[in-house]
Parts: sequence; structure tokens; C-alpha cells
Amino acid sequence: MSATLELPDYRAQTPEVAARFARLRERPVALEVRNLTKIFDSARGPVTALRDVSFSVHKRELMCVIGPSGCGKSTLVRILAGLETSTSGELRVYGEPVSGPGPDRGMVFQGYTLFPWLTVKQNVMFGPLVAGRPDLFAESEAREWIDLVGLSKFENAYPHQLSGGMKQRVAIARALANQPRVLFMDEPFGALDAQTRCKMQSYLLDIWKNVDITIVFITHDLDEAVFLSDRILVLDANPGRVHEVVEVPVPRPRSEAQIFDPSFMATRKHIDGIMHPPGQEQKETPVMRLAVSDPDVV
Ligand SMILES: Nc1ncnc2c1ncn2[C@@H]1O[C@H](COP(=O)(O)OP(=O)(O)OP(=O)(O)O)[C@@H](O)[C@H]1O
Ligand SMILES: [Mg+2]
Repeated sequence: MSATLELPDYRAQTPEVAARFARLRERPVALEVRNLTKIFDSARGPVTALRDVSFSVHKRELMCVIGPSGCGKSTLVRILAGLETSTSGELRVYGEPVSGPGPDRGMVFQGYTLFPWLTVKQNVMFGPLVAGRPDLFAESEAREWIDLVGLSKFENAYPHQLSGGMKQRVAIARALANQPRVLFMDEPFGALDAQTRCKMQSYLLDIWKNVDITIVFITHDLDEAVFLSDRILVLDANPGRVHEVVEVPVPRPRSEAQIFDPSFMATRKHIDGIMHPPGQEQKETPVMRLAVSDPDVV
């Protein structure tokens, strides 16, 4: 006999959480996306990757974007970062229309993108130097960012001497060193093992707490999305379009133990239901998160 756990409505919020969302809505809009459509030309004809996608992200918000494979998550974030053009639609950063890449937006990818011939410190200094900062200034700034991601002892190491988690921490420091106003992350922890991934999520929340940055984080991992997000943008596939923007009712600060909170489980179940509607041959995604107390990532 199996007991069914009664979960609350995923929209139920404690007064504290409701107050936090009220404050979030009052913050300036960092990123505004209006009616974004992307049609690719392919050998088999036009492919509509995104259709009429609209949403806003507030200053210092952490928004995850989740959806099935091929729903256009990477295309969306590449357009937002200016690495891809849209077919139609509008993008504003703090009210200013933008097209093409700019220093106001940074990006961290899934693959390891550090320069292998440069040390950790040189990798982090690279952006500020290109932007014309004097050497000594760039170096002391790089040290601060490296310290923030907890890698001071490794500032003279080369990327091949680092674990995958450490490389991604350097990639975050390198992106932040350019002082973007919005940081885009496309499955940045997707190549890491489950345990390192959990630690990296906690590291990211620590970094985010200490830096004035708005984050748009792409993932297809439900636990990751609920653990990290203020709100989750859920996309449908074929073509990619907004299904719902979910306010995560789990209080902050977040901890690993919250995955057993009814509010966490209710949100997770709701989004799982969107991604795997009843009638589809799909098991519910198993809970992958492990309780991790060791703060050391390596
Ligand atoms: N350069 C391209 N030319 C043609 N079609 C493309 C191109 N890039 C992406 N697509 C198509 O656009 C759709 C969205 O792709 P995209 O990579 O953005 O999805 P995704 O949600 O990031 O997938 P995944 O979860 O697998 O990373 C897919 O149908 C893909 O085949
Ligand atoms: Mg992708």
C-alpha cells in the first residue's frame, strides 16, 4: 500500500514569501523581452525555434528557464546575449533597446571555455584588459573575483589542473569581471557529476548574494530550477513559447534540506506535470539531489 503525500498548491505563499515577491516586482526591470520570434532556415525548410516569447526579469532576480530539449532555451539565451539575431521582437536592458552583444550582458556556457594557455588569474583579467583597464587594476580586480569564487589558492594554476567544478567557477569569475548587469548561464553545470552540481548551485547562490547581478539560468533539471530560482520561465516545445512563469514559494536563504519542503515538492511536481503531461510515456523525473554538507567543491 502506498501513501499519497498531500502537497499544497504550488501558488500558496507564506506572508514572508509573498512580501519578497512584492518587493521583487517593485524593483526596476533589468531585462525585458517582447514578442521574440526566431525562425531558422534549414535544409528541410523554416524551423520556428521561438514564437512570441515575452517576459521580464527584475533587478537582482534569479530566473531559471526550463523546458524540454529542443524548445529553444539555448536559442533564447544566445539571442539575449546578442550572439544570435532574432527574426522579430524586442529586447531591452534597463529600458534601453539592445541588439548584438554588449558589456552589459555576460555569458557562461556548459562547455569549458577558459583559455587553456592562460592561468586562472590571466583568464579572469582578460576581459578587463581588453576593455582597457590598466594591468595592475585588472590584476587586483581579478584577485577579488577569484577570491569570491573561492579559488585564491589556484590563481596561478592552468585550466587543465582544475576539476570541472573549479573551471566553471573560474568561468563565472571571468564573466563577472566584465561587470555585466545581466548574466546568462546556459546549463553551466550540465557536464558536472550530480554531487559537484549540487555544490555548484550553492556556490552560485552565495556568489549571487554578494554581487549586484541579475541572472537568467537555463536548465532542464527540475531540482536545479526550483532550488535556484525566484521565478521559473517554463517553455513549451515546437515551437518554443512561454507556458507559464512560476513564482517559487520556497523561502530564502535556500538550503539542501528544503528539497523535502512541501512547497519545494509542490512546485517541482507542478512543473514536472507541464513538461511530462499525463498520457505521455514518461516516468516522473527522479529526485537527483543529494544532501551535501561539505562546502569543498573539489
Ligand atoms: N543554427 C540552427 N539552424 C537550424 N535550426 C536550429 C539552429 N539552432 C537551433 N535550431 C533548432 O531550433 C530549435 C531549438 O534549439 P535549441 O538548441 O535552442 O534548443 P534547447 O532547448 O537549447 O535544447 P537542449 O535542451 O537540447 O539544449 C531546435 O529545433 C533546433 O533544431
Ligand atoms: Mg540548449
